[in-house]
Amino acid sequence: MLGTDLLEVLRMRGFVVQAPSSQELDITNPESVAGIAVERWGTVDWLINCAAYTAVDKAETEPEQAAALNTLGPAFLAQACALKGIRFLHVSTDFVFDGAGVGPYREEAPTLPLGVYGRTKRDGEEGVLAHAPQSVIVRTAWLYGAHGQCFPKTMIRAWLAGRALRVVGDQIGNPTHTFELARVLAEIVETRLDGGIYHAAGPSAMSWHRLALDALEVFHEVTGVAPHPIAIESIVTADWPTPAQRPANSTLDFSKLAGHGITPMEPVREGLRNFVVRWIETDEAIRSLAEVR
Ligand SMILES: NC(=O)c1ccc[n+]([C@@H]2O[C@H](COP(=O)([O-])OP(=O)(O)OC[C@H]3O[C@@H](n4cnc5c(N)ncnc54)[C@H](OP(=O)(O)O)[C@@H]3O)[C@@H](O)[C@H]2O)c1
Repeated sequence: MLGTDLLEVLRMRGFVVQAPSSQELDITNPESVAGIAVERWGTVDWLINCAAYTAVDKAETEPEQAAALNTLGPAFLAQACALKGIRFLHVSTDFVFDGAGVGPYREEAPTLPLGVYGRTKRDGEEGVLAHAPQSVIVRTAWLYGAHGQCFPKTMIRAWLAGRALRVVGDQIGNPTHTFELARVLAEIVETRLDGGIYHAAGPSAMSWHRLALDALEVFHEVTGVAPHPIAIESIVTADWPTPAQRPANSTLDFSKLAGHGITPMEPVREGLRNFVVRWIETDEAIRSLAEVR
């Protein structure tokens, strides 16, 4: 999801980018990662890692696979970068926090992951900084984008299919459009930001329930499609048990990046509008579904 948008944004801004697939560069395989050191991808100024094990619930029963991708792989990449003097930009998550705090998390707040996904990502951050201390680690949250699966797509498809919607209203986070996050990552490279941990997420803190409502409303505004009135029941986390426990309030504070001159992200309704337009442009199935109704 992020990698595809990042590729587009970086190329639009004039960067020469290589984007190997997981078959071409398996980050869990040291031999494959060694290709970076022998310049299989040419001489590289920055390496940006968008690869991860992102199935939060499945990670609870596949901790080894999650650790291979989220902890070992980033450490291998950091080692290769340190060897070749490549700046490493690694993407992490709000799930490194337990979400019990009241305000937005700043970068120096203590981490306390609640599940396997968050723990393996937190361990990944530590490994990256141990091997390549000049790395930039960008924690982000609640991604949605035109490519791949995301929560707003699930909600919109379910609404179009006429299903009754029940969504958790007591978990708060910052929905983040991957195209905007990609722009922020590009600005980080352009400003040659110092190494360290930074928080980059959308400016609007809200519940999954509010995000679902906004997604449907924006989809309706953009396409004119409204199969039936928008109605989403707000439920509590206890009513929707999941294998992985999620943070109740993991909002992230963008001000460190803003202090370095990085432009904050667009408000959520604008992000959702741009997302819907890009989704319809790139996905024949949703385009025809929207047109048929
Ligand atoms: N999604 C969210 O809501 C969210 C929230 C906070 C932070 N993040 C972080 O943001 C980053 C991007 O997330 P995303 O949602 O864009 O991820 P995603 O859509 O799940 O994509 C993950 C990518 O990793 C690749 N990959 C899997 N195994 C690999 C391997 N062994 N070697 C190389 N590549 C491999 C996958 O390629 P294949 O398809 O070929 O397997 C896939 O393209 C991740 O670091 C994630 O932890 C995500």
